[in-house]
This record gives sequence, C-alpha cells and structure tokens, in this order.
Amino acid sequence: MKRRDFLKNMTFDATGLAALIIMVISGCSGPKEPEIFIDIDKKLQYSAATVRQSLAGLSVEEGFPRRVNQGEYRWSNTRYTGWTSGFFPGLLWNLYTFTGDDELKQAAIAYTNALEPITRMDWNTHDLGFMMYLSAGKAYEHTQDAIYRQWLMETADSLADLFNPVVGTIHSWPWGERRHGWPHNTIIDNMLNLEFLFWAANNGGGEHLRDIAITHTHTTLRNGFRNDFSTWHVIVYEKDSPNVIKKITDQGYSDESVWSRGQAWAMHGFSMAYRETGIAEFLDVAVAASEFFIDHLPDDFVPYWDFMLPDTAGQPRDASAAAIAASALVELSTLVDDQEVSSHFLETAQQMIRSLFENYRSEETMAILGHSTGSKPHDSEIDVPLVYADYYFIEALMRMRNGELRMKN
Ligand code: GLY
Repeated sequence: MKRRDFLKNMTFDATGLAALIIMVISGCSGPKEPEIFIDIDKKLQYSAATVRQSLAGLSVEEGFPRRVNQGEYRWSNTRYTGWTSGFFPGLLWNLYTFTGDDELKQAAIAYTNALEPITRMDWNTHDLGFMMYLSAGKAYEHTQDAIYRQWLMETADSLADLFNPVVGTIHSWPWGERRHGWPHNTIIDNMLNLEFLFWAANNGGGEHLRDIAITHTHTTLRNGFRNDFSTWHVIVYEKDSPNVIKKITDQGYSDESVWSRGQAWAMHGFSMAYRETGIAEFLDVAVAASEFFIDHLPDDFVPYWDFMLPDTAGQPRDASAAAIAASALVELSTLVDDQEVSSHFLETAQQMIRSLFENYRSEETMAILGHSTGSKPHDSEIDVPLVYADYYFIEALMRMRNGELRMKN
C-alpha cells in the first residue's frame, strides 16, 4: 500500500485520530518524526495474560507449542527437533523481560532446558538459529549461565558446517539432495539464522562465523531477488560451482509468485544483516523488499499467504508474515536515515500490529493470534494459530517498547 493510500485506509481509534492530526500538522512543518500511536503495553499485557493462562494447561514434557488445529483450544506440540521449537521459549523470555514475572522466567528456563538434546545431535538443517538462538541465546542474555554459551557455540558451529564456500551459502535443506536431487539449496528463510552466527562471532566463536554470515548475505542478495525486490523462496545451486540451477518455490503459489512469509523473512534478515555489518547494500535491499511488501498489502495490512494469487477470494491470510514484517519494519525505521521513510515504516508496522490485534486475535485458543498459514501447497497448517506469529508479534512490540526507535536528527 502506497503512502497516500495509507492515509486513506487508516481505521481510527481515539489514539489513531490524534496521531493523524499530529501527522498532518507535522507534515506541514517539515520532515515528520516517527510517532507511536498504538498502545504497546496493552498488547503486551494481553499477550502475557494469554501465555500465562496457556501455561496452566501445558507441560514441557509434552513438547513445544507449534500450532492450534482448527476447532481446538490447546496448542499442538512439536518435538525439540522441529524447526519451531525455539519460538515458545523465546516468547516466554521476551514476556519475562516485559513483566518481570518469575512464573514466566521459570517456564522460559524449563522450555529452554528441554532443548538441550539439540546440542548432542548431528544437525542437518539451517533452522538451528530459530531453535537455539531465540531460546538459549535469550537464556544466556538473562542468566549469563555458561552452559547456555557452550550450547550456543556448539550449535553455531553445526550451523556453520553447512556452509559451502564454493557456492557462498549455507545448505538450508540438505535433505533436498536425496528427496529432490538438488545438489545444494538455500531458502530465503535462512537469512534469519545468520543472526546466530553474528552473535557467536561477537562472543568469541571466531571471525569465520561472521565471514560466513556476510558471504551468505551477499550471495543471497545477488541471486535471491527479482528486479522488483520480491524474493524467490528456494535457490537450487550446483554443489561444486556457484552456478544457479533453478529458482523455485516450496511454500509459495508458484515459482514466479511471491510467498508472503518469504518476503517478510527477507525484510527481517537483511535489516539484521545491515545492523550487524553496516554494509549499505544490505540496507538498500531491506528497504526495497519492504516497499514491495507494503505496496502489495491488502487494505487491512495482513497479507494473503502469497502476494501473486490470481484470485484472493476464499484464500487464507498469513498473520505470521504480517508479524515478521512488522518487527522488521520497526527495526528498519531505526536504521534508515531518511525521516520520511523511517516514519512510513514505523507507521505501517503499527497499522499491521493494530490490525493483527483487532482483527486476527485468537481469543478462543491458547494462542495470541490466529489466521496464519504454514504451507498452503502442502495443505498444512492453514488459517490456524502458529507459534512464530505470536513470537514475532511480541518481538515487534518489544522492539518498539525497548527504544530501538532512535529518532533521527
Ligand atoms: N522457515 C519455515 C517457514 O517459514 O515456514
């Protein structure tokens, strides 16, 4: 949605109306400063209350919340081996940061500790960042317990082992070789797991980890985007050369369509890569990918599962894509120099968050948000609550609250 349409499509509450008046006044008198016009704490308090209530009906021995099936109230769980296992401990740590509530801290510790077997396995997936950095990474930040640092360093090394220096990327889904005959593949989601490598490099794990993350980002920048800065989902490479074999989708509508969560992963990952490196091209891509995402949003700021559906009638949304993108836009609003762009990103992030909270809440389940889509082509997890939607919804709010909003000028 373009900036002019943003004003046209705003839905008003009292604070929104006040914000619009401020926007119009400030628009007349020079560059606009980013404004916070949603009630962040109210949404975090609601999130904390929802999660506290869900904890009463959950047991860590049963596994890690992943989705709520249609018509059910309880989370369905994944094992520690599932790619989503780190999100529930991660959101518990974030809500503990917000509330200071010891019950949430104890639950965060219990769910984090239940991931320990990950450190004793041979890993063959790029998802280690989602699984370990969001859980043990936050546990280490809060407790400074050396055991978490040890787990993190070991698993960061396992992630780095998947790097192919000839191609210049991490092999995201090594099973793709056996299942599909793909010699080497890299998915756009993989960008999120690079933050783990940057963290490990910053904390004594070795400069090679940073080099891997930077090289992976450069290669993804070169091969992963179309001219309009929409992303492909999966890039299949040769193994012994940097040649691309094909660019395809796994979870999107078609190879040439734009899977909305993939676009959100690109926004989030490239913003982080710029924050960690200061490499200007990474920021440029994050901005351009974000503009694509915003320009293709429907009126209520929550995308369908793919941006290029021939007909959206009856198609499910993906609240998780909106939550990931909102979090990325909050960060990006602090990284860009242009005040207008910064304001536009922050305002759009708030519109997304407000729409998610007002229109996509899942009051009848243990989750905060409903209406996410895991993989439509696989007929899997369609129009249901997904734990990573809740995680990034909370992350977006915490980013706003924690003053990552550095006013420019
Ligand atoms: N990273 C897997 C997904 O976004 O579905």
